[in-house]
Amino acid sequence: MDGMMENESSNILPRPSLLEAGVLEEHVRGFLKRRDEFLSIASDRGSPLYILERDVLVSRARRFRGAFEKSLPRTSYYFAMKSNNLPAVAGTLIGGGFGIDVSSGLELQAALDLGARDIVFSGPGKTSAELRLAAENAGRVTILIDSFDEAGRIDEEARANGAIIRAGVRLTSGEHGLWRKFGIPIEELGRFFRHASGFGNVRLRGLQFHSSWNMDPGKQTAFIARVGEALAGLPSADRGLIEFIDIGGGYWPPQGEWLHPPGIMDRLEPGENRMAQGEVPDHRWVGAAPIEEFASSIGDAARRHIFPQIDCRICLEPGRWVCNDAMHMLFTVIDRKGDGLVITDAGTNAIGWERFETDYFPILNLSRPGLTERGCLVLGSLCTPHDVWGFSYFGEGVGPGDVLLLPCQGAYTYSLRQQFIKPLPAVVIIGDPD
Ligand SMILES: Cc1ncc(COP(=O)(O)O)c(C=O)c1O
Repeated sequence: MDGMMENESSNILPRPSLLEAGVLEEHVRGFLKRRDEFLSIASDRGSPLYILERDVLVSRARRFRGAFEKSLPRTSYYFAMKSNNLPAVAGTLIGGGFGIDVSSGLELQAALDLGARDIVFSGPGKTSAELRLAAENAGRVTILIDSFDEAGRIDEEARANGAIIRAGVRLTSGEHGLWRKFGIPIEELGRFFRHASGFGNVRLRGLQFHSSWNMDPGKQTAFIARVGEALAGLPSADRGLIEFIDIGGGYWPPQGEWLHPPGIMDRLEPGENRMAQGEVPDHRWVGAAPIEEFASSIGDAARRHIFPQIDCRICLEPGRWVCNDAMHMLFTVIDRKGDGLVITDAGTNAIGWERFETDYFPILNLSRPGLTERGCLVLGSLCTPHDVWGFSYFGEGVGPGDVLLLPCQGAYTYSLRQQFIKPLPAVVIIGDPD
């Protein structure tokens, strides 16, 4: 997500190309087929809604896991709770054999309450209270240490609780600029092992790194090569301690990223290039590799750089890839201002950021279905103009009372929701996971 989650400055997305009409049509058609089901949910449960499809979540998780199990001998999976913190999401995935990746005491407590038995706790600036909670639950939590100082603070909390903490150390995957707030430089790994060996209540057993927004496995495999070099430089006693390498999350869903043309918001201001009423802006697309390609390249890199030196488990922390397609927004048109502007009962506080000023997600009019895309400002009801769902919809006209579906809003939306002016939508859970 733009500037809101971890990202690397070097991680500039490839240049977008035009999104093919056929791809878009297939996406819209797939959801329109289920129109009656969604309309009946709206009629029973009202509007606006978040709709979670548990069966979709489970099938995504299975496919992710299946891909990596095929290419790596020993793997573990940790759902990144930050990507969707609805308890039913993590709860469903725990039921499917996933552990949970948490980044705060709040998330840790939620994972514990859901019965997670295998939790990794990563992130910078962990507080004493957060470390205490981890120490109190040491049998269920592995702490991914973020700094030299943090190692000492973990040891203190563990000692106070009579606990031994299983830990890994996070290696920063970008030594410059903002990205270096995460973890320690890989060159410091040897020194970190010596440092950690001085703490009697911390057992350093693994390494972690994470890079965001991977459209292909290139950044991950390049870092695995660097990890291989770092391992080669460690004394064999330290190398022998390593039981896991956690390669983080950041796998982009296979549909790629769909975007508006750059500067689209400027075109809503007076000026030469102003958006015409009824204009459908073009749609851009940045492709992403299928997860099987990530798995196979990462498997090759691990066999080349890691396994000749150590026999370890590979841990993965997917968020977006697993939950993106499993949750949708549904809302209703309340008001219409002429042909080119409608206002819905939900505001974008429901997703917590101005996502749709850059990202394109098709809006489907379930009440007047159609495969034709029509230009129209579809806006929320907050008292700010920066409350945009989109610049078009699929359907045969749009007006008050129409029920609109905005599919695939499962990642970095629900977790960022905020009570601002309008109440938050209710959650409806559908889909038997088996
Ligand atoms: C340490 C860590 N692991 C996993 C994730 C999940 O990333 P994604 O949702 O892109 O898979 C994040 C996201 O920022 C992260 O910071």
